[in-house]
Amino acid sequence: MKITKTSISRLNTTDFSNLPFGTVFSDHMLVCHYKDGEWLAPQIEPYGPISMFPGTQVLHYGQSVFEGMKAFKNNNDEVLLFRKEENLKRLNQSAVRLSIPEIPEDVFINGLIELLKLDGEWCKADDGYSLYIRPFIFASSEWIKASSSDEFTFMIITSPTINYYPGSIDLVIEQHFSRATNGGVGYAKAAGNYAGSFYPTKKANARGFTQVIWTDSKEHKYIEESGTMNIWFRIDNKLITPSLSDSILGGITRDSILKLAIDAGIDVEERIVSVAEILEASKNGTLQEAFGTGTAVTVVAVKSITLEDIKMNIPTQENPISMRFKKQLQDLQYGRSEDIFSWTSKVTSSITAF
Ligand SMILES: Cc1ncc(COP(=O)(O)O)c(C=O)c1O
Repeated sequence: MKITKTSISRLNTTDFSNLPFGTVFSDHMLVCHYKDGEWLAPQIEPYGPISMFPGTQVLHYGQSVFEGMKAFKNNNDEVLLFRKEENLKRLNQSAVRLSIPEIPEDVFINGLIELLKLDGEWCKADDGYSLYIRPFIFASSEWIKASSSDEFTFMIITSPTINYYPGSIDLVIEQHFSRATNGGVGYAKAAGNYAGSFYPTKKANARGFTQVIWTDSKEHKYIEESGTMNIWFRIDNKLITPSLSDSILGGITRDSILKLAIDAGIDVEERIVSVAEILEASKNGTLQEAFGTGTAVTVVAVKSITLEDIKMNIPTQENPISMRFKKQLQDLQYGRSEDIFSWTSKVTSSITAF
């Protein structure tokens, strides 16, 4: 793979105590072009601007998909990736739905590893630090006809992050706007899904809520997910999460929690979850916990859920199951516990020095 290293690393001038999420980028990026029906050889270059013509397809029709994953550093200064194959699988599922050619495994996996070998120092070993990884593909043909592009660009950029351990969050059940519809692209990480969510989310933020809970687009009676997280409830000692559909993004954290729960012998159900049953469980005192899961937050507890003018306060538990999962997951991700599911892989043991 052609690798062009940066001549001036920004590593020593970056303030690692101040890392607003997704705003600081590491030194290098992977770039791979798709032309004439095939993905060409990927290369690694210094992180920097990319040039494109105003008529580039993605700017007009949003034919673009992305992924979100993290690398962690263990106590031996080794960079660990968490379930990277799952991200590749989901990226390609998204690509198929958006009429984008799938990324070959070697381009994704080898490209990612080479990139992390170069920028491993951007992943700090201290507790709470991780390196957020953003693979993405966009339509790069220069045309404004409304049809699928025939040229694409795949890139990977990385961004150091610190876990701010957000406290518990306040959610509101969205009863007007929808994130996704049946037959649509909700199960894909399509860029446009996020563009469409900003307006309702901003409105909810202005009313003092951290995030919205997305419901089904037909009747707004069934719970789907929350913001960019999957959602979970503990009712009467049963752990419940909405079953996946074409309007829900199948989170890799969700899948990991499911496996941890089953392994721990917890009674867990993936099924349709109605707004009415959450309201009922809150009223009759059986709603014990609610929490969200996703790569960015890992696991975050929900403090309240509002439905129109009814605020359901979620009781504070002494030993919440959500925090148990959070610890278990983070221990695995940082290589602090035995990797019984074979979820982590080491990138390198020697970090490239600049
Ligand atoms: C809409 C949506 N739901 C759920 C998730 C959680 O997915 P994961 O656990 O793979 O980060 C994300 C984040 O990627 C998301 O964007």
